[in-house]
Amino acid sequence: MLNIVLFGAPGCGKGTQAARLKEKYGIDHVSTGNVIREEIARGTKLGKEMESYITTGRLAPDQVVIDMIADYIAAHKHAKGNIFDGFPRTTHQAEEFDRMLSEQGLKVDVMIYMDVPEEELVKRILLRGKESGRADDASEEVIRDRIKVYHEQTAIVADFYAKQGKFADINGLGTMDEVFDRICQVIDSIRK
Ligand code: AP5
Repeated sequence: MLNIVLFGAPGCGKGTQAARLKEKYGIDHVSTGNVIREEIARGTKLGKEMESYITTGRLAPDQVVIDMIADYIAAHKHAKGNIFDGFPRTTHQAEEFDRMLSEQGLKVDVMIYMDVPEEELVKRILLRGKESGRADDASEEVIRDRIKVYHEQTAIVADFYAKQGKFADINGLGTMDEVFDRICQVIDSIRK
């Protein structure tokens, strides 16, 4: 089984590339952001609790997303592989993720970081915001807050995987095809 963490700041292209990787490698994909947005759209109790986090660009509480991923792992432990998009986002999430995977005899194979400068991130998200309807895409202020949260709380997670020799960084600039090729090169190198 191939377990890939797609990592990077908001707007770097995680969701875009995850969809392509899913298709190419026949592996599954989970986005904690999507799971939370679905809960909100369905008006569940959890969704109502999560709404204020999403709209202000703050991270949801660790235990909420850890429980989501625990459910996902339980349902996908026999998959050919998995792409984790937007998780883990704190060191605590990463530690719990390792623990949950190892309980199932599984592990993360690689974290792939897509490096994109802040101005390009803002530009991409503002462009998407016109059509996405995502509450956290609507204003530049919230977009910049999300990027700030990424630098303050999430970027450090790269060190967690670097220490395990599982970190790869790629240039996230260029066409979607160019970025996809770079990611595939990393994946193909670890599958050999
Ligand atoms: P989440 O849904 O994970 O959003 P995000 O990290 O902010 O990332 P985005 O979805 O905005 O961007 P992306 O990197 O997927 O880029 P995309 O492919 O869409 O999280 C949302 C919220 O949920 C968080 O703020 C938090 O509140 C909560 N949450 C989620 N996970 C959590 C966790 N683990 N812990 C706590 N809270 C959590 O691309 C962006 C745009 O750019 C698109 O329009 C795309 O078409 C375009 N694009 C992509 N690639 C290129 C390219 N190469 N060139 C030009 N344009 C491109």
